[in-house]
Amino acid sequence: MRRMSWLGGVAAVALILTACGDDNDDETAEGSGGSEGGSGEVEVFTWWTEGGEKAGLDGLVSVFGEQCADFEFVNGAVAGGAGSNAKQVLASRLQTGEPPDTFQAHAGGELLDYINANQLEDLSGLYDEWGLTENISENLLDAITVDGAIYSVPANIHRANVVWANPTVLEDAGLPIQAPASVDDWLADMQALRDAGVDAPLAIATDWTQTMLLEAVLIAELGPEAYSGLYDGGTDWSSAEVTAALEKFGELMSFTNEDRAGLDWPDAANKVTDGDAAYTLMGDWTAGKFDEDGLTLDQDYVWWPSPGTDGVFQWLADSFVLPVGAPNRAGTECWLDVVGSTDGQREFNTVKGSIPARTDADPAEYGPYSQAAIEDWASDDLAPSLAHGSAAPVSLIDAVNSAVGQFGTGGDIGGLQDQLVAAAESATAQ
Ligand code: GAL
Repeated sequence: MRRMSWLGGVAAVALILTACGDDNDDETAEGSGGSEGGSGEVEVFTWWTEGGEKAGLDGLVSVFGEQCADFEFVNGAVAGGAGSNAKQVLASRLQTGEPPDTFQAHAGGELLDYINANQLEDLSGLYDEWGLTENISENLLDAITVDGAIYSVPANIHRANVVWANPTVLEDAGLPIQAPASVDDWLADMQALRDAGVDAPLAIATDWTQTMLLEAVLIAELGPEAYSGLYDGGTDWSSAEVTAALEKFGELMSFTNEDRAGLDWPDAANKVTDGDAAYTLMGDWTAGKFDEDGLTLDQDYVWWPSPGTDGVFQWLADSFVLPVGAPNRAGTECWLDVVGSTDGQREFNTVKGSIPARTDADPAEYGPYSQAAIEDWASDDLAPSLAHGSAAPVSLIDAVNSAVGQFGTGGDIGGLQDQLVAAAESATAQ
């Protein structure tokens, strides 16, 4: 296998700016299901432990129970949004040669980390056997393919650049229930909310959630093409345009809750639905959480693309892999077959807030948020997510999260930009 630099790899992913219609309507294959022979435990490693995330995992497990009845699912989940704890545990298990049978990995730059370390098996033979190649969204297939080999089975596609808002809080402050057109307009609304007594109108949580806010501002201020260039060398992190965007990010941060560093993403979402904040910016797993909480779209909450990013779908995808040295290979193959199957994707995605990675799913089976997301994925410009691994490898994600987390408490724009420049340089050098 050819070793790839992350820059080369992400460029090869080619998911940067194409409007992405899926022109493949082949409706042939359902997942073949059925166990491949064998028995025993299959440890599935994720970070999905509560709410819509757990409901999604449970959906996959129920199909696995039917189609892989000879095997026993073992839940290896480690709690913490975005894998904030899980990824470290996983890295040390891979290093000591004790991989789980399968683990959750983001398509794109993050997957390349594992591929380049020779930790994953090529699944292209299984793709042929299961008829998957024709049924997975073409752009996504590019993101998990390196030199013709395919290294994971995508379960879904998530959107990162989404703002979730409480309509009652907006109304009470005299604001319309509609997306501000730009970051500047959003800042003006934040001030109006504060004047109306909402001290921290934008609810946010620990460092990686702040990175998501930063990414959304960069997309809005630079445009999706220049934003994507931050990860393939086309855009300079030290430019004046980035400084200007960081200043806007700093202003937004001044409207956030001070207890952010100790919170996870569901805590920030709860502040919105409890009426303590007007907005949170978070991926569309929030739709899965709100469903699980029994909340209703347009009544309890509204959503829109983060201000200034309408027409851009900032994407990420959860996928499952066959690690080299997986203890139960046959059981893992059966799990992967379920993940890629029509049944598995329906049971997972209809409750997770994500949209299917398959192109043959029936949108009518999905709720109103997901139906809109399915349409946007097919027509919007695409931009990758840093915090969720589609844009770059884990080393850059960690360095940016740490810089942003420090900024959150210190607030020095020049220092933040210096750290971002250094992080990008060091990732490129690897
Ligand atoms: C992302 C993952 C999503 C969701 C989210 C919050 O990294 O792709 O599926 O789990 O973290 O935990």
